[in-house]
Amino acid sequence: MSAQSSGALPSLPGFFSLIELESVGSTNDEARSRAENGASAGTIVWAKQQNSGRGRRGRAWISPSGNLYCSIVLRPQVSPAIAAQLSFVTALALGEGLQEFLPTSVTLEYKWPNDVLIDGQKLAGILLESQIGEQSKLDWLLIGTGVNVASSPVDTDRPSTCLRQIGMKLSVTDVLAAYIHALSTWLARWEKTGFESVREVWLKRAIGLGEAIEVRLPNETLTGTFEALDTSGSLVLTTPQGRQLISAGEVFVQR
Ligand code: BTN
Repeated sequence: MSAQSSGALPSLPGFFSLIELESVGSTNDEARSRAENGASAGTIVWAKQQNSGRGRRGRAWISPSGNLYCSIVLRPQVSPAIAAQLSFVTALALGEGLQEFLPTSVTLEYKWPNDVLIDGQKLAGILLESQIGEQSKLDWLLIGTGVNVASSPVDTDRPSTCLRQIGMKLSVTDVLAAYIHALSTWLARWEKTGFESVREVWLKRAIGLGEAIEVRLPNETLTGTFEALDTSGSLVLTTPQGRQLISAGEVFVQR
């Protein structure tokens, strides 16, 4: 794929169907409503801008036009614990989709649980939301993804960057196509072989692995060494009190 900005609507693997919107509150909310009304797995809701984009941990995701905002409806017949692995699948799809465009001078990393970083700064975020149906299996799951293509918010606590800032003149549709093609590959791999191959590839680019980190939880902050990712995707933290398995939180690398 060329690194020139094309802007044309992307051709996508057959499983996916694209709904293109000019503006929306949140693509996750729009996708949720469509999923509840029977939208099939593979439906992608893509908006040029969002007026009330949402991030993890209740934060706002500022969404001016020029960046990628999309949410994908999936209907995996798995438990919520297994479905959580899809955040790593998505991070790999974003990373590998973008990798082909990136100059070799930049470093692409993954931050637990599901951020994509360039040179230590946040480029993309992922928000999974789901509805449990019968027998504790998922009815639907949404993968919401925001990629900073043309701009990024100013946040000194969580520095971010965008593709334009590192000299990449990609259009939103270039990024969308690269992401969805890589997602198609990684979803198939995850369905066929499970989490192990995902975990292995993700860990190769995990920021802070083997280093001192701080993990902010809703009611406390833990410090320790980022030891590993367990077989379910939880972060294994070694602390003076022993090993802790963390399934949700925010990581800060202490360098
Ligand atoms: C995070 O890193 O906090 C997750 C950010 C997820 C943002 C995306 S943009 C598309 C989708 N719609 C939303 O309202 N949020 C997600």
